[in-house]
Amino acid sequence: MSSLHGKTIWLTGASSGIGLALAEALANEGASLILTARSEDTLTALANRLPGQHHVAVMDLMQPEHAFESATKVVAAHQVDILINNAGVSQRSLALETDLSVYRKLMDINYFSVVALTQAVLPSMVKRQSGHIVTVSSVAGKVGTKLRSGYAGSKFGVIGFMDCLRAEMREHGVHCTTICPGFVNTAIAHNSLVGNGQPLNQADPDNAGGISAEQCARAIVKAIKAQKAEVVVADGLSKLAPLLNRFFPSLVRKMVANRK
Ligand SMILES: NC(=O)c1ccc[n+]([C@@H]2O[C@H](COP(=O)([O-])OP(=O)(O)OC[C@H]3O[C@@H](n4cnc5c(N)ncnc54)[C@H](OP(=O)(O)O)[C@@H]3O)[C@@H](O)[C@H]2O)c1
Repeated sequence: MSSLHGKTIWLTGASSGIGLALAEALANEGASLILTARSEDTLTALANRLPGQHHVAVMDLMQPEHAFESATKVVAAHQVDILINNAGVSQRSLALETDLSVYRKLMDINYFSVVALTQAVLPSMVKRQSGHIVTVSSVAGKVGTKLRSGYAGSKFGVIGFMDCLRAEMREHGVHCTTICPGFVNTAIAHNSLVGNGQPLNQADPDNAGGISAEQCARAIVKAIKAQKAEVVVADGLSKLAPLLNRFFPSLVRKMVANRK
């Protein structure tokens, strides 16, 4: 188990849900955080409230090219030991009813911003022959279900990106961890995009019945300290779904198609 004490950890999506719980857990481990999201006031209040010294880097990750430029400034100012790509947006709309622009937005935040921030921090990690990239994908990146064709596409994509990166980074001493949460009780459903790109603005019983953000954050911290390659963080059917899909794919296809 590697210690997080004294490490500089750049965490995206730190203003809400899993990221907020992770910020608290990581600060309690003695890490110094760079907190990223769009909500500056929330991040500043969080940085002031957490034990230790922390920084805020406000970014809109739906604009990956701008995010890359801002990220190079973060990297120039800090030696980032661990990057946690956690920010993300989900979807609740049928493929038949979803604008192409919504697919692009989901890819921008869930896939291209991950690539952009990772590319910004990697050169210095490779130079130091040490570092850790952590990306939060989803069980939806393992098993596609209704209403999430764009979200699942981006989350499947990011697992592929992390698998390739892990292979490339082995000789450089940079660890790569992919986290696949199942249902977690956060604002994700509320913030998810519908077919015209507007937020759903309502909760979802699946997420409301999921594990807590704190429970998810504890499992993520454990996976980071153990330098795991990939972990599923879930309970109930969402925990079983990736394994079921691997060994009984036609059964899972029937189950997801029959689900209302
Ligand atoms: N909750 C679940 O059931 C679940 C399951 C599997 C995977 N995940 C993944 O876990 C991660 C965290 O989700 P969550 O459940 O904690 O959701 P959440 O409560 O909605 O939090 C999302 C975070 O992403 C940030 N974000 C959203 N759009 C952004 C943008 N354009 N630029 C910068 N930051 C942005 C938000 O901050 P601002 O709004 O302040 O910018 C917020 O901090 C996501 O990658 C999600 O896909 C969640």
